[in-house]
Amino acid sequence: MNVGARTVLLTGATGGLGHAIARRLAAAGARVVLSGRRADVLAALASEIGAQVAPADLSDPDAVRALAAAHADVDILIANAGVPASGRLQSYSDDQIERALLVNLHAPIILTHALAPQMVKRGAGHIVFMSSLAGKTATAGSSLYNATKYGLRGFAGAMRAELHGTGVGVSTIFPGFIRDSGMFADANVKLPFGVGTKTPGQVADATLRAIERNRGEIDVAPVSLKLGSLLGGVAPETAARVTRKSGGDDIARQFETGQLDKR
Ligand SMILES: NC(=O)c1ccc[n+]([C@@H]2O[C@H](COP(=O)([O-])OP(=O)(O)OC[C@H]3O[C@@H](n4cnc5c(N)ncnc54)[C@H](OP(=O)(O)O)[C@@H]3O)[C@@H](O)[C@H]2O)c1
Repeated sequence: MNVGARTVLLTGATGGLGHAIARRLAAAGARVVLSGRRADVLAALASEIGAQVAPADLSDPDAVRALAAAHADVDILIANAGVPASGRLQSYSDDQIERALLVNLHAPIILTHALAPQMVKRGAGHIVFMSSLAGKTATAGSSLYNATKYGLRGFAGAMRAELHGTGVGVSTIFPGFIRDSGMFADANVKLPFGVGTKTPGQVADATLRAIERNRGEIDVAPVSLKLGSLLGGVAPETAARVTRKSGGDDIARQFETGQLDKR
């Protein structure tokens, strides 16, 4: 699907990756509807790229349903919003657990449930889910994030199969560590020597490529991390040992501290 003149609902538009995706879509001629909670940030981006705004708190299922109802005619959904949900499970309150599941997993499912039938009726559409390499490999201090990002991968794969032949494509993006802006950059985590990063622009490029070429899954990470996530899939015990030996527990603690404000 070519994004030119198509209407796109983008969640998480106020964040680091959302900004890059919004700008890339607008430059490609899409009509973008920007969603997030921070109305001032949405307004500034909308006036910069000429977009519409649709503020919504995705931890409120009624607000998610209202967002979908108000934009039932979109050609493309990009479910990008997410909270980092980092830190040991026992450090979470019940409310924080619920919010992580609602924003990262429940909201994308509800949006898809509401919007996909209209796309199928029109015989054209595309849905993109923003997972993470944490959707392919589990690590200590990331149980909730892993649960939601693995969940998104499973949901997206099944939806892609269900919608095959309807004209509606489904893609999942798996970023590794993204520098410059976004939840990793905001956390100020120091990665071990040799662990590479990618940019928000590269995530935006991958998102556009996924839509235009109807790609099922795209990793946005250096080869070493892609191989690590492959290992995590086929040999999780070995991958866990490697992660422990290369300072994984220290990194997990840095994420927990650096992302406390986003729970
Ligand atoms: N950055 C990375 O290195 C990286 C790596 C892998 C995957 N990802 C994924 O990429 C996506 C975007 O992340 P990012 O790096 O851009 O993070 P970010 O800068 O922290 O942005 C997160 C976005 O999610 C929105 N959001 C959070 N809670 C919300 C809620 N209750 N209701 C509505 N919107 C909410 C935020 O909007 P408001 O604050 O305005 O509500 C913001 O737009 C996430 O799904 C993340 O898991 C990121």
